[in-house]
Parts: sequence; C-alpha cells; structure tokens
Amino acid sequence: MSNRTTRNCRNIVLMLVAICGNICLPATAFSQSDIGIEFKEKDQIVSTLSLSDLATVAPAVSLKIFEIHEKKERIYKAYSARALFDKIFGKKWGKAEEIVFISTDGYQASIPVTKFLSHDAYFAFAHNDNSPFTMTNVLQNNEVVQLGPLYLIWDNIKSEALLEDGASDMPYQVKSIELTEFATRFPNLSPPTKASTEVQLGFLHFRKHCMACHTINGEGGDKAPELNYPTSVVEYIKPEYLTRWIENPSSIRFNTLMPALAQEIPDRAKVTKEIIAYLQAMSATKRSPKRQDIR
Ligand code: HEC
Repeated sequence: MSNRTTRNCRNIVLMLVAICGNICLPATAFSQSDIGIEFKEKDQIVSTLSLSDLATVAPAVSLKIFEIHEKKERIYKAYSARALFDKIFGKKWGKAEEIVFISTDGYQASIPVTKFLSHDAYFAFAHNDNSPFTMTNVLQNNEVVQLGPLYLIWDNIKSEALLEDGASDMPYQVKSIELTEFATRFPNLSPPTKASTEVQLGFLHFRKHCMACHTINGEGGDKAPELNYPTSVVEYIKPEYLTRWIENPSSIRFNTLMPALAQEIPDRAKVTKEIIAYLQAMSATKRSPKRQDIR
C-alpha cells in the first residue's frame, strides 16, 4: 500500500471516529437518565418520566438483596416501588389486578398487584458503588446484560417466598410500567374456561415462569420464540424432551440463552408437568396472533 493510500485510510478512520464520537456511542456511554420511562394505565400513558425526574418523586435508598441472576448478594441504589406508584398513579394502584413491565430487550413480566402489596419491591437505577450498571446473568449462559433504565428488585434476603420465586419477576431494562387486567390484556393466553385443574395450574406457572420471554398465540414477551401458533411445541418436541428442555435446556442445546426453570421452585417436577398440560391444552386452542393486535 502506498504512503498516500495509508494516509487516506487513516484519515477515513479518523473521520469515522469523529462522527461516531457523536452518534455511535454505546448506550452505556450516555447517562441513562435521558430515557423516558412510560407509566400507563390500561394502554393510556399517565406519565413519561426520566431517571432525573424520578429522583424528584421519591428518595433514593441503598438496598442489599440476594441477586438471583448472579447467585450472590449485591447492593443497589433504588426507589421504593410503592412510593413511586403512590405518587404517579395515586393510591388506587393497589386496587389494580396486574402490572406489566416491558423491557427494551422484549421481556414482558406480568406480575399480580398482590405481590407488591405483600412484599417490598424497588426500582434499582445504579449499583451502589457506581460501577457500570450491568450484570453477568448466570441463568442466561453468563451473558453480560444492561440493567438500566430501571431494574425491578425485591427486598428478598429475609423472604423465603421471594427466594423461591426465582428471577422471573425481576425484569431489567424496564422502559414501560402498566396497570392492567390480565384477561383483557392477554385474552389469547387463557386456556378454555372448562380446562382441568392441572391445566389451570399450568397456566399460572406459565404466566410466572415463561410468558415474560415467550408468546402463546402472539401474546407475551418478545425475547424468545412463539410456542403455540401455528404449530405448538408439543406437536414437534417429544414429551420427555420438552420436560428436559424446561428443566435443563443446556442439556439439549449448547450455549442456549434459555434459563432452566428455577431450581428453587418447590415441587419443580409437578410444575413442569402442569406447564406441559397447559401447552397441550393451548395446542387445541390456537388463535390467530393478528386478531389480538386490536387491543
Ligand atoms: C429469559 C427468557 C426465557 C424464559 C423465562 C423461558 N424461555 Fe424458553 N426459550 C428462551 C430462548 C431464548 C429460547 C431459544 C433458545 C435456543 O434456541 O437456544 C427458548 C426456547 C424454548 C423452547 C424451544 C422452542 C423451539 O422451537 O426450539 C421451548 C419449548 C421453550 N423455550 C419453553 C419454555 C417454557 C415452557 C418456559 C417456562 C418454564 C420458558 N421457555 C421460559 C428464553 C426463555
């Protein structure tokens, strides 16, 4: 390569660096406080607040939790969920049925309001030591994930019930928080009303442990494949492999990002069986995902 070409190349590289210096910085380089977090009530936006706005709504606290994603204790800077909800939605939030959290990576956790009334939840916005707001997710093949803008955590160190819940109610990258009713928000996820108790229980487990990542008939999280429409997983995965997939996915697919059903769950084998019963019932209840978009 001639000197001139080398110089031109270097100039182009410098130019790119200059342009990228302004527009291509990774999200970590920005202060996450610029991202507006939506607070909604049944599809209507009540408020859009940045992290710096939130700082004026509730006092920040330091909270030590058992970090289920990392299997060790961690201290976060956080706002009390109740304090934020009281100020933003008013006290009536406690009478809602469900709160849906939508994350930038497609995760969609749907958590009953009762859990927020019986346990203390917090929205973390930084590590206590101000190190980058990321985490190595042991449950997800050690992937390093961003936690901001908000990360829902629970004061779990002294609560066996919370520790047994696993990590599914701990969405990170939360950008939208919506008070809603499960049945009207997710009509296509429900099994037929006459379904057996086993199927109904499986539905509750699915809501808690699977739907944040997966859709059924197009409803649920956007982080992982649809499981029912047009062909259900029970139609192409042999039952014993489906059980194994749920309990130990990496024994089937190397490096998979799907976490195993939480080890801490009591009666884990029964829970798996009930989830499969629900998936079987749904395979006979296919509803076109397009219809549900008319929300
Ligand atoms: C944190 C997100 C997450 C959760 C929670 C989760 N999954 Fe998954 N799941 C994935 C991802 C990602 C894949 C794709 C993995 C791959 O191909 O390696 C997947 C794949 C699957 C597959 C295989 C689909 C196919 O056609 O290959 C099944 C079946 C499945 N999940 C069922 C479940 C069930 C049942 C639950 C609840 C017990 C669940 N998943 C919970 C992320 C998740």
